[in-house]
Amino acid sequence: EMRDTPRADAALTAPRLDLSIRPRRNRKAEWARRMVRENALTADDLIWPLFVSEGHNKRTAVASMPGVERLSVDQVVREAERAVKLDIPCIALFPYTDPKLRDEAGSEAVNADNLVCQSVRAIKKEFPDLGVLCDVALDPYTSHGHDGLLEDGKILNDETVAVLVRQALVQAEAGCDIIAPSDMMDGRIGAIRAGLDAAGFLDVQIMSYAAKYASAFYGPFRDAVGSAKTLSGDKRTYQMDSANSDEALREVELDIAEGADMVMVKPGMPYLDILRRVKDTFGMPTFVYQVSGEYAMLMAAINTGWLEGERTIMESLTAFKRAGADGILTYFAPQAAERLKKGS
Ligand code: PBG
Repeated sequence: EMRDTPRADAALTAPRLDLSIRPRRNRKAEWARRMVRENALTADDLIWPLFVSEGHNKRTAVASMPGVERLSVDQVVREAERAVKLDIPCIALFPYTDPKLRDEAGSEAVNADNLVCQSVRAIKKEFPDLGVLCDVALDPYTSHGHDGLLEDGKILNDETVAVLVRQALVQAEAGCDIIAPSDMMDGRIGAIRAGLDAAGFLDVQIMSYAAKYASAFYGPFRDAVGSAKTLSGDKRTYQMDSANSDEALREVELDIAEGADMVMVKPGMPYLDILRRVKDTFGMPTFVYQVSGEYAMLMAAINTGWLEGERTIMESLTAFKRAGADGILTYFAPQAAERLKKGS
């Protein structure tokens, strides 16, 4: 720790600026920096995404996401236990569906016994007080890798929404606490809300991926859920153009009007400006997804020694708090929570 101590001889000879305002005074020591700190990351801010796959007692590395594994259901339950111990309030589930079960219509998405539903039941049985979020979209289940139904090269909006409602319902029946539609179809929040309410799931929350961009940063995730090789074309007819900002506000406004309890901006670090605008404009519980590509990028530099791991991870997460996030979906959730438990 460097400290500035006045020295009489230096004071006589050194040039001195005539400054009455010296912002460095508030940074002179750790206690002073702590005292004026504006934002603090806590474990309460973290949502931990996990990948589920078939099998028992099985963990498979995801090559493009060093440190992240696909887990069999029993192993997901073990990670849920870790989340509870680390005070992480909520986990998010994504399936790696056996390619044999993928079809044009993504029918495995509405199977009440699919990997996600099995996981939710197993987790809720052991840890009923841990929040569980389920992604709603068809891409882990379709043979073409799109989030919606495809006909003659086009994504069918309204037909897709009908399937998404059924997907949300099987997840809610399994015990999911938060339905998180990531598909970007028009009108899906209202339809899912109506579907949940009609089935009596009045307390199931909706966190909408409201401002979700067509991003190159999802590459490693598609590796993890096995849709990278199969995806035909791109998702630009439903995910947002990365050049747009006002459009994000219109998307968020619609999702709120349709009944979203919480909204999300995705990806994270390249879209901090969007996060700030959304939070300032709507004052909603606002979440951000530090996506797979951001994780891969940081891990690549950390693993080569080009960036210092712990500091880089904590700085990247604190930046989201500063930009207005109430919570962060991040693959770094356990590392960050462990760091926070240790204290500074
Ligand atoms: C599925 C979905 C994606 C992500 C979350 N839900 C991928 C996509 O839209 O292609 C990305 C998460 C990440 O990259 O970490 N619709």
